[in-house]
Amino acid sequence: MSVTEQPAPAPGGEPGPGPGSASDTGVDAAAEQLRDRISADSLTTRRDYLRIVATVSGGLAIGGVGVAAGILHRHGDAEKLPTAKKVADLLPPGESVAFRFPGDEDRAVAVRLKDGSLVGYSAVCTHLACAVLWRGDRGADGELYCPCHEGVFDARTGEVTAGPPPRPLPKVFLTEEVDGSVWAVATARSGEPAKEALCRQFGDARPEMAARLGCPGAARATESRRT
Ligand code: FES
Repeated sequence: MSVTEQPAPAPGGEPGPGPGSASDTGVDAAAEQLRDRISADSLTTRRDYLRIVATVSGGLAIGGVGVAAGILHRHGDAEKLPTAKKVADLLPPGESVAFRFPGDEDRAVAVRLKDGSLVGYSAVCTHLACAVLWRGDRGADGELYCPCHEGVFDARTGEVTAGPPPRPLPKVFLTEEVDGSVWAVATARSGEPAKEALCRQFGDARPEMAARLGCPGAARATESRRT
């Protein structure tokens, strides 16, 4: 029974208890208790709500400080060459695939642009680390979009084109095998030139490859390994 409902007439058509009767006092007491419970419930709900809001905004703030201070792990931080990972058997033009690379926690996205170019990026927004999504229906190349604060990144370069993200998306380097499969092989830090990133990771692990890329000191290292 809601607080606003009135007591039903007594059985047999007798009028219900009148104002000031003992039954009326009981009904008033019950209604009072009910009101108290509803107030207590809504207080609890309000408290819970405030606690949830505080937790979420506290998490965002800590995440923001962590990202800004470089405390949290970022894509491309690893010095060593990661283990190559197959991300798709095939990736047709205009399509994307989400995957994790180089670690199991590192969200990434590979996109085949409409002209056939293959691009890969970290899918962690450089603003406050929300997940970045591929939107293929925006412009000629589509775009990478962060729904948290309307951040937008150029699909071809990873550069910021709108919103608050302070830096471009870190790149994930992809290769395509003859069977059409797509592999993630290395990463770059946000804004790091591709050659620098590749030399940093291939330098020691794959000196021949580093020499082919023209990495400083790679040819000498390869030569000394042969002798
Ligand atoms: S977290 Fe991506 S725009 Fe704010």
